[in-house]
Amino acid sequence: MAAPNIDTIVSLAKRRGFVFPSSELYGGLGSAWDYGPLGVELCNNVKQSWWRWLVYERDDIEGVDSSIILNRLVWQYSGHEATFHDPLVDCRECKSRMRADKLEGYFPEEGQQADFDANARIRAGLVKCSECGSTNLTDERYFNMMFRTTLGAAADENDPTALAYLRPETAQGIFINFLNVQTAMRRKIPFGIAQVGKSFRNEITPGNFILRTREFEQMEMEYFVKPDAEHFKLVDEWVALYLEWFKGLGIDASNLQLKEVPAEELAHYSKRTVDIMYRYFPERSEEERQWEELMGIAYRTDFDLRSHSSKPTDEEGKRVNPDSTEDLSYFDESTKQRFYPHVIEPAAGVNRTVLAVLMDAYSERTNDKGETRVILKLSPQLAPIKAAILPLAKNKPEIVGMAKAIKRSLQPVLRAVYDDTGGIGKLYARQDEIGTPFCITVDHQSLEDEAVTVRDRDTWEQERIKVTDLAEHLQKRLKPFPIATPETAMP
Ligand code: GAP
Repeated sequence: MAAPNIDTIVSLAKRRGFVFPSSELYGGLGSAWDYGPLGVELCNNVKQSWWRWLVYERDDIEGVDSSIILNRLVWQYSGHEATFHDPLVDCRECKSRMRADKLEGYFPEEGQQADFDANARIRAGLVKCSECGSTNLTDERYFNMMFRTTLGAAADENDPTALAYLRPETAQGIFINFLNVQTAMRRKIPFGIAQVGKSFRNEITPGNFILRTREFEQMEMEYFVKPDAEHFKLVDEWVALYLEWFKGLGIDASNLQLKEVPAEELAHYSKRTVDIMYRYFPERSEEERQWEELMGIAYRTDFDLRSHSSKPTDEEGKRVNPDSTEDLSYFDESTKQRFYPHVIEPAAGVNRTVLAVLMDAYSERTNDKGETRVILKLSPQLAPIKAAILPLAKNKPEIVGMAKAIKRSLQPVLRAVYDDTGGIGKLYARQDEIGTPFCITVDHQSLEDEAVTVRDRDTWEQERIKVTDLAEHLQKRLKPFPIATPETAMP
């Protein structure tokens, strides 16, 4: 079972401290969300799983953490200043403002040419408002999605020399550091650079909880390969690896799907992109409307390294980038050739992964009293709290003392909490609802036999474990699921 819709998760997330609407006491801020005590742990666990999988468990990937605000020229030469925009239309009937390219009828039917006249289609009444169905829409106009800011206390708001942007992708911080990482770490191609961090986009229509927000977190990796590598095949291989990673996070394969992005929808840098889609909208009756992008794997060619390099020239011999002081080409010792590496880029979102994981983990179970309980069957590696230590009698100092001592002894190896704020049934239910894999009960007998009851979240089965064996027992059962190894797919 998975959550029947996103709203179920929104209410659970707020009630149990995963995600709160941001700035609520001032009326909120459209599509901004704050991660609470359990949400921040879940996000951190997703990021750690990803980092461990790519940077620690493989031998060919390094990590970086670049600035969010980069020199404006980075965005000029990456193409974002000129092309990182969405087409915007207004509905004259219901006054909604929407992204034109998401509307029914915007793109010509398959088989027609890719460079089409969108405004001609809008004026011909072929494009429909997503809110009221009207075709009475304004012409589209482009809106750059990068957030602007000005650098320096004395800077005038309109001073172009002080203009800077909040990054709309973490990728550029990787490209501009390609040579630094390659030389400092003495890397040979193929190798990758990974980065996780916040990105910002002034989305026209954010929404659906944490699915589309203006501030979000990305986990991106740029994998540098030779110009004559089998780029399309590498895209497929990374898709396969990420599918395994998502399954390892507990997401059911039936809720994942691939989408070959059509040519007219490709980003300006991409020759091929495959999106991994998640079934975020299972309640929609039309199957094809149930899916939304979870992540994308793109073949970015040598576009970015070449654009940021000082040497390339145009047909007239003029430098294409007169501002760069570096050439980001690579010298291959084995072939004695110099070239701009090509890039395969798996780009995932932390927030969309968290939402998919929460939706997939959601389940309900009815106990023998006929009460329905929510159980969040999170993969143990992702669970915000791994073990809850519960005293059976909170008015018995010896039991409370023993429970607190167990909590302290587990804390260095895993996230444990102590809770005595209710009867045992209620305490179990609370932990089930937040996905805690193990509840550990300290009872009267524990004082005699130095053992505790370990209750499994998913089966509700209980077993008696010696306190001295507890940490090892839990750690064994918490081990991450096996995930694809580089040897299984990489050349
Ligand atoms: N560097 C390539 C790049 O940024 P993208 O498809 O635009 O590619 C990658 O973004 C991932 O980042 C998406 O698949 C999604 O998971 C996440 N993402 C993008 N925009 C987002 C938004 N507005 N809110 C939440 N996540 C977003």
